[in-house]
Amino acid sequence: LKEVRVTLVRQEDQSYSAMIGAGILSTALADLAELQPGRRVFVVTDANVKAAGHLDTFANGHEVASYVIDPSGEQSKNMATVMAVLDAMERERFGRDSLVVALGGGTVGDLAGFVAAIFKRGVPYAQAPTTTLAQADSAVGGKVGVDSEWSKNAYGAFKQPCRVYADVATLATMDERGYRAGLVESAKHAMIADAEYFDYLDVKMDLLLRRDRTVLAEIAARNIGIKASVVQKDPEEKGLRQILNFGHTVGHAIETASGFQLLHGEAVALGILAAAKLAEDLGIAHQSERPRMAALLAKLGMPENCPANISDEALWEIMSRDKKAVNSVPRFVLVDRIGHAYCVDDKYSIAVDASLVAKALDAIRP
Ligand SMILES: NC(=O)c1ccc[n+]([C@@H]2O[C@H](COP(=O)([O-])OP(=O)(O)OC[C@H]3O[C@@H](n4cnc5c(N)ncnc54)[C@H](O)[C@@H]3O)[C@@H](O)[C@H]2O)c1
Ligand SMILES: [Zn+2]
Repeated sequence: LKEVRVTLVRQEDQSYSAMIGAGILSTALADLAELQPGRRVFVVTDANVKAAGHLDTFANGHEVASYVIDPSGEQSKNMATVMAVLDAMERERFGRDSLVVALGGGTVGDLAGFVAAIFKRGVPYAQAPTTTLAQADSAVGGKVGVDSEWSKNAYGAFKQPCRVYADVATLATMDERGYRAGLVESAKHAMIADAEYFDYLDVKMDLLLRRDRTVLAEIAARNIGIKASVVQKDPEEKGLRQILNFGHTVGHAIETASGFQLLHGEAVALGILAAAKLAEDLGIAHQSERPRMAALLAKLGMPENCPANISDEALWEIMSRDKKAVNSVPRFVLVDRIGHAYCVDDKYSIAVDASLVAKALDAIRP
């Protein structure tokens, strides 16, 4: 018997910067040429983002190779589109010296990041998020991937971007409903991590809804700061990173059960209300917290009730398959006071008695 040990301890600095501002998309290409000299840029975007003019803004008069995902949105976040992008890069003779740019919302970011993770065994990529959701959440953290026929984000990887360009001017072209729903992730960040940020959102809400660029840049910076500080401590979601799932156990179940009629943020807003009720009934949170959370979500125009055609049974079924579930028992991230996620025995998601969950679901029924 012979044993040859292959020793490989990976210690790699994967740090990166997020650049935030209004109008920075037009200088991103030049910035990337400095950050990653000599690389050929390949942009992945979608039909809506291109039609809104953001691809032209990014190219800024230069010839840039691109793949435009069409139709836009979740329905194209699959392996067929990944193959189409990879084939387009091959056809145009892109090589190890490629640099992928994800220009769009979370769909484009997740898909393009996955392409970058596997093309020629991995090439660098940059995120240029153009939705409130992507600028708050998906553009940082390095989770990339696509859906299967059976489940969301079924195939993927961890792949950190080399830079993020959050240009808040791009948010001007978003439709109102998507714009507001994406802001729920901002509210979520404030609730789990920063009470002062919660007050900021509350006070600046009118400006925020008018898409004030100064406020948008401020919240992008705070969101990315909060997400980064969580991801830094737990990059592969072994514990702490779960707090980013606040509102998502019930939220994701409602989103799925609605057949995606509710937007992700709208469903998560309901999930936050349910989780707040759980924390209240468990005596973990003071009774003052839930109404304050509800008021902020109402200002964002989020629904207060779960659609009537979705039964508790349907929600249970989906929650028991949630990624935080243990032995099919759903777990919930709770907030004990606004700005602070609850933690017990180093655990950030807890199983809750079924009767309390039923009560929490009642709280989001008319
Ligand atoms: N990787 C992560 O950590 C992470 C975190 C949260 C969500 N996600 C993923 O993000 C995806 C949702 O992201 P999303 O809400 O940004 O969806 P999206 O990318 O599908 O964008 C929503 C819609 O807005 C359009 N759009 C995007 N930017 C626009 C702009 N500036 N102007 C006009 N229209 C624009 C898109 O074409 C699309 O039709 C989901 O697939 C989800 O799984 C990933
Ligand atoms: Zn979310």
